[in-house]
Amino acid sequence: MLSLVVLISGGGSNLRALLEASEDAEFPARVVAVGADRDADGFAHAEEFGIPTFSCALSAFADRDAWGDAMLEQIRLWNPDLVILSGFMKLFPPRVVDALSPNLINTHPAFLPEFPGAHGVRDALAARVTETGASVIIVDNGVDSGPIISQRRIPVLPGDTEATLHERIKPIERELLIQAVLDIANGHINLKELATA
Ligand code: GAR
Repeated sequence: MLSLVVLISGGGSNLRALLEASEDAEFPARVVAVGADRDADGFAHAEEFGIPTFSCALSAFADRDAWGDAMLEQIRLWNPDLVILSGFMKLFPPRVVDALSPNLINTHPAFLPEFPGAHGVRDALAARVTETGASVIIVDNGVDSGPIISQRRIPVLPGDTEATLHERIKPIERELLIQAVLDIANGHINLKELATA
């Protein structure tokens, strides 16, 4: 059984999908804790499922390294097999990425390497592309630049706004994320090999 720590910053709809998936006794992973860089709305999902939460605000620390060390300490308390950034909108300092890699993955609402960063959906709309997508990647020390685990194309429809497009991307992200967790748990995806390929 794969143990997961999920980190969020916002509503946590992808987190909720994971929590629902893990209710199935056959699902080979369990969320053991949910963390955030703030008092995230998505903590409500964790509480509903009886999962402990923790948060460390960047502003409460002298610098990003000190904040990263505090997050790492909290994460390590749970000794997870895999850490999932799911709408976690802060960049970890390199020493935290290096400590967790390659068992640190991220979901992103674009077809990477297209439109990395905090505004993947907005940037795709601004570029007037007809297709964007969703990706699950291994986190490295760049911005959404790590090895791609899985991704899928999604059309941009006439009249799409950032909100409508993001709402169509999210269910695909959830499918990709749940499948990635399954594949990692059953050995079909080897993160170590993927990270060094
Ligand atoms: C998701 O679309 C996730 O990919 C994105 O934030 C959303 C969080 O939604 N993350 C990024 O853009 C990271 N660069 P949620 O809080 O409802 O799961």
